[in-house]
This record gives sequence, C-alpha cells and structure tokens, in this order.
Amino acid sequence: MNPSAVPMGHDGVHSMEVRNVHKSFGSFDVLQGLDLSFKDDAITTILGPSGTGKSVLIKHLVGLLEPDEGDVLVFGQNLWQISEAERYEIRKKMGVLFQDGALFGSMNLYDNTAFPLRKHTDKPEDEIREIVMRRLTEVGLDRSWTKYPNEVSGGMRKRAGFARAMVMDPKIVFFDEPDSGLDPVRTSLLNDVILEMHAEHKGTYLLVTHDIRTARKVSDYVGLIWKGKVVHYGEAEQAFEHDDPFVRQFLSGESAGPLGMD
Ligand SMILES: Nc1ncnc2c1ncn2[C@@H]1O[C@H](COP(=O)(O)OP(=O)(O)O)[C@@H](O)[C@H]1O
Ligand SMILES: [Mg+2]
Repeated sequence: MNPSAVPMGHDGVHSMEVRNVHKSFGSFDVLQGLDLSFKDDAITTILGPSGTGKSVLIKHLVGLLEPDEGDVLVFGQNLWQISEAERYEIRKKMGVLFQDGALFGSMNLYDNTAFPLRKHTDKPEDEIREIVMRRLTEVGLDRSWTKYPNEVSGGMRKRAGFARAMVMDPKIVFFDEPDSGLDPVRTSLLNDVILEMHAEHKGTYLLVTHDIRTARKVSDYVGLIWKGKVVHYGEAEQAFEHDDPFVRQFLSGESAGPLGMD
C-alpha cells in the first residue's frame, strides 16, 4: 500500500470512520457499538463526561487499541486488516496532542518539536530547523525554544506538544482534552492557536473534551458520546445556537429528554 495514494475525503471516502466499534475492559463495556464518519477538513469535538471512553476512542483511531468488534477505517483502510508496518505509515500522517503534552523532560522545546522529524525522516538539520521554528512560531513559542518542559507553564507545554504534533504535516490531528489543567485564559489562547493552525493547514481535527466552552469555541461539528455510543453528531452551530435537545439535556444533566438514563 502506498499511503500517499490513498483517498482522503474524495469519492465519499472519509479520512476517519468507526463502524459498530465495541471495546470492553473486563466486564466494563466502554464502547458499545460506536458509529461515526468524521467530516473531513473540519474540527469535530466529541463531548462526554469523564470515563466515557473518549481517550479509548482516540487510541482506536490511532491504531493503539484493537476493537473487540467493529471496524476502524483511516484513509479508507481498515486498520486491523493491514500490516503493522502499514498501520505505522498511516500513523505518521497523524498528529496527537496528548492530555499532558507528553514532552520529553530531558529535551528542550526545540528538540522535543524536532523529535518526529529526526525519527521518521532523513531531513538535514537546517531543513528541520526551518520547520521546527515555523511551527514553534505558529504556537507562539519561538522565543522559548531553549526552555525545558519543567521551566514553562502547562499552557506552553501543550502548545509545544501541538507544535510537535504538526511537524510531519499531519492530515489528521487529535487533541485529548487540550483544556485540561489550564485556566480559562490559557485555554482560550490554546483554542485560538488550534483555530489558526487549522485555518492555515486544514486537515481533519478531532478534539475530545468535557468542557463545553472549548467545544463552543473551536468546533465545526459536535458529537456526543453516551453509554458507549455516539448519540448525536451534527453542526456545532446547530447544536449550540439552536438549543438542540440532545445537547441541552447533555449539558444540563436532566433525566427528561432524548437520552435515556437507564
Ligand atoms: N487499558 C485499559 N484497561 C482497563 N480499563 C481501561 C483502559 N483504558 C481505559 N479504561 C477504562 O475505560 C473507561 C474509559 O476510559 P477513557 O477513554 O480514558 O475515558 P475518558 O472519556 O475520560 O477519556 C474508564 O473507566 C477507564 O478506566
Ligand atoms: Mg481521557
């Protein structure tokens, strides 16, 4: 398979799709038949309370977890009907911003950001420098590149993680609770950077969060996970501006509404 030749959002093929995905840990059924075709070149936010399987969903989409049942398709490829090497090639086209930034404590922000390029490409250092400094500038860290992760704020660590997630020019970018642990000002700053980066580079972004403010600010599309399934997926504007009954019940935690509580 040549991953650069696979369709991306053309001819009805979505970059990312999950079909009837089930995943249990012991007796705990986390994903219970999850279906979703992500909109290409859009920012989708999946909202769900803690422990509903948001991180588990991301791990399925990056090929780190195999579903017990169902299919995960990325660029039209079924992740578990291809080889490990092919999954690895697909993963190179994905960027992930983990919850804590997941930076290497022993490397400064520059080396952290350069890491994927040094690992996955044979680009010369001057080319790497150009890419790294461009990305660090985009996230507002061009003057902090010599700093180590423990010398900067949580917001800066997340932005450095974002810069690192972008150096390979990913077609798909995941954000696992980008707002967690950040105060509202830093959350807002990071959300701005996410929007600017998307406007500049496009791509299919999936963000998971339990924070409605982040969802409101960055989303083109919003999905709700409820009892291991996606119970709602639609345009963010529709969901937030038009007082969608699913979204309203979800946000208010009311027992009366379209989401069954039993
Ligand atoms: N590798 C694992 N082994 C056992 N249980 C897990 C594992 N990963 C996740 N879980 C459980 O699955 C549930 C959903 O986890 P997660 O996706 O991390 O939730 P969240 O929506 O907060 O990201 C949690 O109850 C968690 O304890
Ligand atoms: Mg999580």
